[in-house]
Amino acid sequence: MPKTVLTGLRANGELTLGNYLGAILPMVQTLQNLEEGDKFFLFVPDLHSFTTPIDHTQLYRNSLNNIKIYLASGVDSNRENVFLYRQSHIPAHSELAWILSCFTYYGELQRMIQFKEKSSQQGQNVSVGLFTYPILMAADILLYGADYVPVGEDQRQHLELARDLAIRFNNKFGEIFVVPQVWQKQLEFVKRVEGTKIYSLTDPTKKMSKSINDPKGTILLTDKPLDAAKKIMSAATDNLASINWDWNNQPGITNLLQIYALLKNIPTHEAVKIWKGQTQYSNLKKETAELVVEFLTNLQARVSKITDAQAEDILQKGEINATKIAKQTLLKVQKAVGVVKSQ
Ligand code: TYM
Repeated sequence: MPKTVLTGLRANGELTLGNYLGAILPMVQTLQNLEEGDKFFLFVPDLHSFTTPIDHTQLYRNSLNNIKIYLASGVDSNRENVFLYRQSHIPAHSELAWILSCFTYYGELQRMIQFKEKSSQQGQNVSVGLFTYPILMAADILLYGADYVPVGEDQRQHLELARDLAIRFNNKFGEIFVVPQVWQKQLEFVKRVEGTKIYSLTDPTKKMSKSINDPKGTILLTDKPLDAAKKIMSAATDNLASINWDWNNQPGITNLLQIYALLKNIPTHEAVKIWKGQTQYSNLKKETAELVVEFLTNLQARVSKITDAQAEDILQKGEINATKIAKQTLLKVQKAVGVVKSQ
């Protein structure tokens, strides 16, 4: 059966190593194994990028930069069935989001961990967009019939909501949506044993995030490679003098092992085997820093060769093609809910 793979990364600032390892890398790896008939959608959810305040003068540029990073990471936009686009340029996303919102329960959205966390950080002025954001994400996924959605662990609950909405809608109206695969199958698809969450290098109990001001704990994909190396070398660890995969007692070391394994493209259990028995953390830090330097140097060299005009051309083509697919799904939904004649 042909598969559809889809993911998106917001453009609310510069992308981080967490974004790359959690979403771009598994996406690019699956692209290498795509078979005939499979479809691959990689987009910029630019309408999702200001659910919390941003500098809007930077949004357009940040969206283009995301596209450049996708391309530099190895996405070949010339391949048939590869679609690169911006969410805002395909109105079907917003239209479907509205329709889905009428089938989403208030209580369901209230349970979303990310909403609870982000709204508590923001105080009084929490936008409605932050609350309804998972519905737009469900629309992003369901419009294209995605089976697999490579995302980091923090997006798991949102993906599960998209599944629930697809099932609810299909139960009411018949087989309209493809139901995305369950989380365990998502992990198997990207060959990971657990959901990916890269933690801050200064506080390894917190997620590495572009929306938190934590420059020493966050590696940006635009960081100078040697600055990034310094961040790894000064990463917070522990004083147990033993290297183990143990998120509870050694989150800093486990985070470094995870970064090391993913950049080296080996399973985590192999990384653990390599470092088991070592009592000094400096070698693990040094080798991880070297991997980060090599990765950033290569990525940045490739990004610098892509012009704005090239990125815009690719988007234009992608948006025309993705619109056709999105419109077909939207039409089925419009007929189902009765706003368009069904025969
Ligand atoms: P966003 O923009 O916050 O993050 C983009 C992707 O990066 C992953 N990620 C991480 N993975 C591991 N460790 C981290 N520290 C880390 N930080 C971020 C996220 O899990 C995500 O996969 N709602 C989404 C964007 C979106 C989307 C979609 C994704 C909108 N529509 C449809 C998939 C399908 C978001 O805010 O991701």
